[in-house]
Amino acid sequence: MTDVGIDAVEIRSGKLKLDLPETFAEVKDEDPAKYTKGLGLYASSFPDAYEDIVTMAANASKRLMDRKGLDPDDIGRIDVATESAFDHSKPVSTYVAGCLEQVYDGDFRHANKGERKFACIAGTQSIDDAVNWIAADKNRGRAAIVIATDTALYERGDSGEATQGAGAVAMLIDEDPDLVTIEPEQGVGSVDETDFLKPNQQFPSVDGKRSMQVYLMRMREALEDYETQVETHPDDFAFIPFHTPFPGMVRKAAALGYRHVVRDTDIEDELAEEIGPQPRPEAFDDDEEYREALKEYTDKLTETELYREWYDRAIAPTIEISSRVGNWYTGSVHVARVSALKHARENGIDLDDARLLVGSYGSGAQAEIHGETVQPGWEDEIAQLNVDDQLVERYDLSWDEYELIHDVHNHDETTDVDAFTTPEEEFVFDGWGRMGERK
Ligand code: CAA
Repeated sequence: MTDVGIDAVEIRSGKLKLDLPETFAEVKDEDPAKYTKGLGLYASSFPDAYEDIVTMAANASKRLMDRKGLDPDDIGRIDVATESAFDHSKPVSTYVAGCLEQVYDGDFRHANKGERKFACIAGTQSIDDAVNWIAADKNRGRAAIVIATDTALYERGDSGEATQGAGAVAMLIDEDPDLVTIEPEQGVGSVDETDFLKPNQQFPSVDGKRSMQVYLMRMREALEDYETQVETHPDDFAFIPFHTPFPGMVRKAAALGYRHVVRDTDIEDELAEEIGPQPRPEAFDDDEEYREALKEYTDKLTETELYREWYDRAIAPTIEISSRVGNWYTGSVHVARVSALKHARENGIDLDDARLLVGSYGSGAQAEIHGETVQPGWEDEIAQLNVDDQLVERYDLSWDEYELIHDVHNHDETTDVDAFTTPEEEFVFDGWGRMGERK
């Protein structure tokens, strides 16, 4: 079988921005450092009044198709991953296809469409579905479009409010991809959990602190499962993009991952000379004591030069975009991958044959870990992104404007707000249940 993976990617941010250290921190009467240093966030992207999950997805997909010179006949599958769907029956991919059919000759009649749901991990699951569809030779020479699109909004006053965000990531999945191939081995950690729920409600019910623990527990299980198939060493991977609800969460996941992966390697021996041996569960009678020892060891570990160098090389580049846009739920791990590759291009980092270790997570809860191999076309592909321009051009909301737009996206029909930006040759929201019109 030929290699299959991500051939091209497009990012579409919501066109509004809420500043966290200034606007948000001032209204909440909090130290700005809680957001910038603690959560690792500077701003959140928000959709304007004429944007929603469909328009962001369709606009990202249109740019992707135009850039790659594709028309509907080249696409055999459109899958959307989202936790913000407004229709319990018709998948968001049909709305997106409807948008795209307004602007291309031909239609997506032949294309298999679907919608994947498992909180934030659904984007990765959709890529897996598309890769398997191609590997099974069901694609008849056609590629798949996978779109992760969300308006990740929380109720005002909820602890998650600082971590909001909105945007779409459209990815072309194809044979002989330009960006990365997806390696077949997968580690999974999956348990029925109630850390984050949206039962017929617009905003989630979240147990924030518990959700962080569940993220880490499932990620550890996924890593253990992955390691039963693939030997790992911290130097094996150029970058490790994690699901990023906020960069502070990735800091915790990175420490856990590193501690785990260095066990029984030359690095553990080197570290032992500086901070002592890593605690092993069999040396403790009681779980609580073991957890406490592990926490003390991890605190010391993250202060070592070895760890800091690894973190700055493999992790910090993955959270650069996220710190400017907030949580995009299903899109977030795919933003992290792009962030790392963009950093590599801007800093002249050689990625010939480099590998990525991708850690996805969805509340409810499941983590998945797989490897990817960077392909020779990655640099040209990443050079096409216009994400910096999009982020700079966002309209900076005042607090009052933020509250209005938040109500609009809570489907509050009584809130009548003019858009803050003007659509420019793009799909715009045209009422619930209808597809976006191009304006
Ligand atoms: N200077 C520096 N750091 C500061 C600070 C200051 N002045 N004030 C606070 N901090 C630090 C805190 O110490 C903390 O860091 P540590 O966790 O490393 O100790 C960090 O800033 C955040 O502070 P709090 O814990 O006090 O923040 P909070 O309780 O208000 O909110 C949260 C944190 C509960 C995670 C909240 O953001 C939340 O509910 N988020 C939504 C749920 C979420 O994102 N969960 C993540 C896992 S689930 C998932 O990944 C799925 C998904 O996408 C939602």
